[in-house]
Amino acid sequence: MAEAATGASSPRKRLGILISGRGSNMASLVEAAAAPDCPYTVVLVASDKPEAAGLAWAAEHGVPTFAQSPKGMPKAEYEAKIDAALRAAGVEAIALAGYMRLLSDDFVARWRGRIVNIHPSLLPKYKGLDTHARAIEAGDAEAGASVHLVTEELDGGHVLGQARVPILAGDTADSLAARVLAEEHKLYPKTLAAWLRS
Ligand code: GRF
Repeated sequence: MAEAATGASSPRKRLGILISGRGSNMASLVEAAAAPDCPYTVVLVASDKPEAAGLAWAAEHGVPTFAQSPKGMPKAEYEAKIDAALRAAGVEAIALAGYMRLLSDDFVARWRGRIVNIHPSLLPKYKGLDTHARAIEAGDAEAGASVHLVTEELDGGHVLGQARVPILAGDTADSLAARVLAEEHKLYPKTLAAWLRS
């Protein structure tokens, strides 16, 4: 978005990030927010796994964190707690970054058009799990990652950006995942920023 005539830039969008694990994509989003022209600021990192390594990383880097295990409660109650934490932090947009839990239709509807996800395949290929093994098994020449809007359909929303890598002879799911992940760390901040500016 262009700067106003006064020279004042538009306020940054307040971003919440949901994670379940190591949080390397979350870290790439937090690090990118240090750029003066970044259109978002990360105001909360929340997790369904209190022990997620990414939560500790976020806290060490001064980002507010929130953890809520879904164990022992109905899904609606768990999601209400996540939703309340996001709203208390003034979150305007949500980035899923290795968040391994399906969001309910209700949650998606409450945040419609304001949730994005990164998925490790060239969507619409290989929605769901084990994307790299499936791409190798299929004999594909390339793999990659997609940033997409989140809708009620798993990995089915509009694709905002993709990164591609070749599949090499001898690749395993792990070696391919590592090559794709390095691209994810560039793709996610870049695509998120472009989407927020649009
Ligand atoms: C990434 O491969 C991402 O595409 C997928 O889950 C993985 C999360 O990794 N959705 P990390 O927690 O960001 O390191």
